[in-house]
Amino acid sequence: MKINANYSNLEKSYLFANINQKIAAFKAAHPERDIIRMGIGDVTLPLCPVVVDAMHKAVDEMAAKETFKGYGPEQGYDFLREAVQNYYKKINVDLELAEIFISDGAKSDLGNILDLFDKDNTVLIPDPVYPVYVDTNTMDGRKIVFMEANAENSFLPLPDASVDADIIYLCSPNNPTGAVYNREQLAQWVAYAKEKNAVILFDCAYESFVATPDLPRSIFEIEGAKDCAIEFCSLSKTAGFTGVRCGYTVVPKALEPLNSMWLRRQTTKFNGVSYIVQKGAAEVFSEEGIRQTRENLAYYMRNAKIIADTMKELGIWFTGGENSPYIWLRCPKGMGSWEFFDYLLNEAGIVGTPGAGFGKNGEGFFRLTAFGNYENAVEAMNRLKKLLAE
Ligand SMILES: Cc1ncc(COP(=O)(O)O)c(C=O)c1O
Repeated sequence: MKINANYSNLEKSYLFANINQKIAAFKAAHPERDIIRMGIGDVTLPLCPVVVDAMHKAVDEMAAKETFKGYGPEQGYDFLREAVQNYYKKINVDLELAEIFISDGAKSDLGNILDLFDKDNTVLIPDPVYPVYVDTNTMDGRKIVFMEANAENSFLPLPDASVDADIIYLCSPNNPTGAVYNREQLAQWVAYAKEKNAVILFDCAYESFVATPDLPRSIFEIEGAKDCAIEFCSLSKTAGFTGVRCGYTVVPKALEPLNSMWLRRQTTKFNGVSYIVQKGAAEVFSEEGIRQTRENLAYYMRNAKIIADTMKELGIWFTGGENSPYIWLRCPKGMGSWEFFDYLLNEAGIVGTPGAGFGKNGEGFFRLTAFGNYENAVEAMNRLKKLLAE
């Protein structure tokens, strides 16, 4: 047998291992110091009551012969696909049920979609970036071209007609930068993709954080996007499903044969998301579910505002913090990402994520997240103000 040699081309993932090692060393040296973790990319609030109730009921259905469910449709139950379809209607996007595929989260589908594409395609990926796009393409041995995201373009790179690409990754609201594309910018990407006969893989795992009315939450709000884009969405951050696992992927019919190929791929290699989880997920889209999940999002966004306001007060350049749970800041005093990490940990007991861990353009930047608790966000920002005022 021959192994997939492309795996040896993967960059070693040191980021979170390094962070944990540094925290452990700090704790050992200063057992009395309290650490506030603001690097966390996971949610911390529990599932909403409507979701929990629906899942309890679904468990009871599984316990009775009359209502027990075995294998479900690979692409998801109609009740959930209809809920997703109605959710899109609210932003004036009409989807056929056959275009909606329920997944066990955005990460799996972002990787699995590559089954549909030949290895001989050029992939365009922003730098800095959520590492999954780079790693999944490296595993397949595809050629990757990076587009520069930086302070000059507010970490929202736009298409460059002189660069050729077949597969384009866009993530908005972005992880790690919190930056959000507006309609006009996304329209430029759609025009570019059509010109190049390319496909956009649009990751909108954070769409529910978009609060500014005219910012797009879906690429399908842009005219012509159904001819060139696939969208990946997730209930992980929207409704606290990081451990429950559920998302959805939209593959437009206009992209045939990709829609049929994806259906074939899923029915062959995937056996669907559990009935219990889908019952809970459907409630996220109910009126009460939307109200309850918005309450949790508002809690996180209050943290984001405290962090963003502190950056403004300290005169630190940043993106995100609005329409996104991430705050991406330029390290103060010209420090490098890891230098600032050490400084913040040692001097203020605050942990964030060094931007350098997300790509070369992340050097000199730092990511804070709003997923912790309110009291910690307030305390951390007070510590930061004191530290940087010294
Ligand atoms: C940009 C982005 N896409 C996708 C995911 C993965 O989402 P899921 O939990 O649905 O797999 C994450 C999770 O952090 C993310 O930041």
